[in-house]
Amino acid sequence: MPIELYRDKNHACYMFTDLVEEDGQAVQANQFLIVDDDTGAIIDPGGNLAYNELYMGMLKHFPPQKLSYVLASHADPDIIAALDRWLSSTKALLVISRIWERFVPHFTKAGKTENRVISVADVGGRLPLGRHEIWMIPAHFMHSEGNFQFYDPVSRILFTGDLGVSMMDGAQAARPVTNFKSHLPLMEGFHRRYMVSNKILRLWVNMVRQLDIAMIVPQHGAPLMGQQAISEFLAWIENLACGIDLFDERSYQVPTAIIDPVVRPPLPILQALRAP
Ligand SMILES: [Fe+2]
Ligand SMILES: [Fe+2]
Repeated sequence: MPIELYRDKNHACYMFTDLVEEDGQAVQANQFLIVDDDTGAIIDPGGNLAYNELYMGMLKHFPPQKLSYVLASHADPDIIAALDRWLSSTKALLVISRIWERFVPHFTKAGKTENRVISVADVGGRLPLGRHEIWMIPAHFMHSEGNFQFYDPVSRILFTGDLGVSMMDGAQAARPVTNFKSHLPLMEGFHRRYMVSNKILRLWVNMVRQLDIAMIVPQHGAPLMGQQAISEFLAWIENLACGIDLFDERSYQVPTAIIDPVVRPPLPILQALRAP
């Protein structure tokens, strides 16, 4: 069952947190459905692991044949790997950064993306959805080179993709967080490695402080809710050293260690990261 993040007479935002089986292989991921009157969009629907459940779950709230858009924050496998199936089962257009327009056809059978892709320039923009709009907010290098977040002015939710992520299971991800400090240990390792640079984070914080945000909702882990948690998150991320800030010549040495060609269980994402 999805979480209802927002609902009024004409507009609703749903979040699916537990569609990807918790078998320790794939990272937990959220998918989203926004409905405005009789129009809808899905955000970051994911790959084959989520497709069937998301399609079935969506049927209870919205007829998939009326889906206008598949909104993709970037082109990672957990964002859009099931693109072929979405383009086959709905009439939706894919909306994605221009950076990825010529790459996404690799996710589909030949010709499937023809006349089905709206490519968006780096500046972003406001996309009509029903009687309202979804704003495509520039978030390049957070972490992907061509990356957008989605702001819904009706619910005042900012869907932040891989920013604001926390590592937890689907049941925990369904509970919005209001205490940022106790939540931070679940976020820190991810952001230090997957975000590209502090310069980008500062530019982004300057921009989003101009938005009226009720909730920051990431693609992995729990939403951040309320003014205090959101302003504490912005203050933290604005000062975070990450990505290339932490890399130096030690990270770029010709390797000598032998990789033992033995398959082991996947590491939890936080442990897989190099300590800063
Ligand atoms: Fe990603
Ligand atoms: Fe992701």
